[in-house]
Amino acid sequence: MSGRGEGRMKKRPFIIDCDTGTDDAIAVIAALGCEEICVRAITSVNGNARERDTSRNNRNLIAYLGMQVEVAHGASSPLYPRGEYYDDTHGNSGLGNVVLRDAEEYLYSEDMASEVIRRIAEGEKGDLELLVVGPMTNIAIALTMYPVLKEQIKHIWFMGGAVHGGNITTCAEFNVWVDPAAAQIVLNSGISMTMVGLDVTEQAAMKREDVDELRVCGTKGAVLVADILDYMLERYANGGEDALMHDASALAAAVYPECMDFEPYFVDVECGSPYTAGHTAVDVRGRTGKEPNVNVAVGIRTDEFRQWLKECVRKC
Ligand code: BDR
Ligand code: CA
Repeated sequence: MSGRGEGRMKKRPFIIDCDTGTDDAIAVIAALGCEEICVRAITSVNGNARERDTSRNNRNLIAYLGMQVEVAHGASSPLYPRGEYYDDTHGNSGLGNVVLRDAEEYLYSEDMASEVIRRIAEGEKGDLELLVVGPMTNIAIALTMYPVLKEQIKHIWFMGGAVHGGNITTCAEFNVWVDPAAAQIVLNSGISMTMVGLDVTEQAAMKREDVDELRVCGTKGAVLVADILDYMLERYANGGEDALMHDASALAAAVYPECMDFEPYFVDVECGSPYTAGHTAVDVRGRTGKEPNVNVAVGIRTDEFRQWLKECVRKC
């Protein structure tokens, strides 16, 4: 006789490590609306804004949605000596002009990011997956402190890097540029991973009609995503970046891979010269003779991606 719940698929356990961040917030909302996964924790890192802001955004976001998810502090500076580098892409505090209630009653985890990753990875016994959509500092620290994680983490899905070009320098994407030292540790860890870089994410733009659809739908997640997209589209109209769903693209790679194409490549990160630091060297021609270590997203069907993303946030 089968008992209640038997036969139901276990949801895939995830930790989201992020520097929230307008598009990070949308990725988090989409992940929370995704039926296939269970977000076990959100760990915060310095990146789009200072860590004190990204962690506060994560906490306020979870409180706004009325959810209970562990939210942890993380690294407040990169391993790489980057200095002050913030710009106004995501506004002063990371969420553009969107203001969430300061949910001071919602307590942060007692543990820092690296400890949260260690604890949850141990408990999940090889099933834990990481969605990493900011600089990789927390992950590099965790792997350095607890090398056993290399056997315990099932897969890392990360937004970062590019096969061609960059969005900060001619050859470096923001997340990897902020902390190339951390990215180098993670990419050389031997953990199975998928890279979703600018080649794909710069095609993943949301449109005005998407905002209107989400606002009509009216769930808490959808309305907040509509507000964030309004900010992004206004920024675009004023000469800034388009409403690019960099971070939600990495989530799509994890749960809706049908909308993307992937190729396995050897990838490493440049850390040396200031001109190239943060460049992801993707060996598309196989010249290094090294075995592929990363599954790299190389194409996206944008319309399918946009429909999927709206479905997820509607459920949140
Ligand atoms: C990445 O940098 C940040 O601005 C976004 O949140 C994304 O993770 C894109 O380069
Ligand atoms: Ca991000």
